[in-house]
Amino acid sequence: MKFVHSHLSGDLIPLVHSPLSSSFLLGRSSQSFQSATSIKIQNHLPSMSSVFLLSSNARCEVRASTFQGISDLADINWDNIGFGLVPTDYMYIAKCAKGGTFIEGELKPFGPIQLSPSAGILNYGQVFGTQHILFLHQLDVNSLFQGIFEGLKAYRKEDGSILLFRPEQNALRMSIGAERMCMPSPSVKQFLEAVKQTVLANKRWVPPPGKGSLYIRPLLMGSGSVLGVAPAPEYTFLIFVSPVGNYFKEGLAPINLFVETEFHRATPGGIGGVKSIGNYSAVLKAQSMAKANGYSDVLYLDSIYKKYLEEASSCNVFIAKDKKVTTPAIKGTILPGITRKSIIEVAGTQGFEVEERLIPIEELLNADEVFCTGTAVVVSPVQSVTYHGKRVEYGNKGVGIISQLLYSELTRLQMGLTEDKLGWTVAIGP
Ligand code: COI
Repeated sequence: MKFVHSHLSGDLIPLVHSPLSSSFLLGRSSQSFQSATSIKIQNHLPSMSSVFLLSSNARCEVRASTFQGISDLADINWDNIGFGLVPTDYMYIAKCAKGGTFIEGELKPFGPIQLSPSAGILNYGQVFGTQHILFLHQLDVNSLFQGIFEGLKAYRKEDGSILLFRPEQNALRMSIGAERMCMPSPSVKQFLEAVKQTVLANKRWVPPPGKGSLYIRPLLMGSGSVLGVAPAPEYTFLIFVSPVGNYFKEGLAPINLFVETEFHRATPGGIGGVKSIGNYSAVLKAQSMAKANGYSDVLYLDSIYKKYLEEASSCNVFIAKDKKVTTPAIKGTILPGITRKSIIEVAGTQGFEVEERLIPIEELLNADEVFCTGTAVVVSPVQSVTYHGKRVEYGNKGVGIISQLLYSELTRLQMGLTEDKLGWTVAIGP
């Protein structure tokens, strides 16, 4: 099978280290579109730059690449993958008793797993709805929500090799989360080895360059039986994968956020800072209501003062004002996103002043640009936020030069289109 696809190659977007200069803007817009042998594609572009410069629709003119494809790619429509499960060939499973350590697991055909009806994850994995979250700080939640997960991505390069992005950061975050939830966790080495094995076993599902990525979902759960509230006697570490494209239905276009004032995602002393499954069931009610009203996602405020920005349902948030990039400080209620951390570092190397601190809602409303970051959403610019019925639109329909630059810098690194001076990517496979 032969693949012809397109992508924005490095020489079309010059790296200019003075991001706010007019040459940055002119250089990018003119070169991106004048020197391209044009073909049209939709979605899954490695660079958002040209998308933004053309329009807010995920359609742009790009140059055909030389990638010839590999013969054993899975036979699916690679132009049409969103962010939904595409079942692949294998999953990885390892088990460990309470108080024990994980030994090497094994690859099994992807499919249903067996759990006792009294498995900890089923009984104490998702016990609280959002409306109950305010009570969490009064409870000892250590042994609840015994389920945590990670998310990372693998990208295929033009030469067919595969790159992981900062996988050791996911391994570390899983072990910190496991400690908080009273669970044993695989060592960093075991985690990395398991991720590599799973990706290689599912290699034919890693999208061709520029068509998306392979989303890797490691799970750690209390799989042993419990009845009373207590840590489970057995734990399962499982990894499955799925090829994915853009997270939001808007594609790469800017999103519209609803600022939630009644429901909260997390509370001080709780588990908002770890990747617990409970944090994601806690947002479903608010998220569903917002989506029903046409919003892309919800922005949560702190649960005490209802005033300071926290994060969105599945991603962190940044604001930009007067060349300064600011994001809420990690203080227990906010997930320490790996994309968040990477964007902070990339923004620093691009000459921006970066601050991590409390951000009152007024600053969000007065920002020049707003964008979200996460493994799934990458860097997602925000077109509008709605707070107490008032809709604030950001300039150029949310197409901001700072988010555009940071997206481009980050994704070029992740996809191996630029030299990885930071040592963030891990090449696997032949
Ligand atoms: C990720 O970005 O990996 C996440 O965890 C978001 C997920 C809930 C879709």
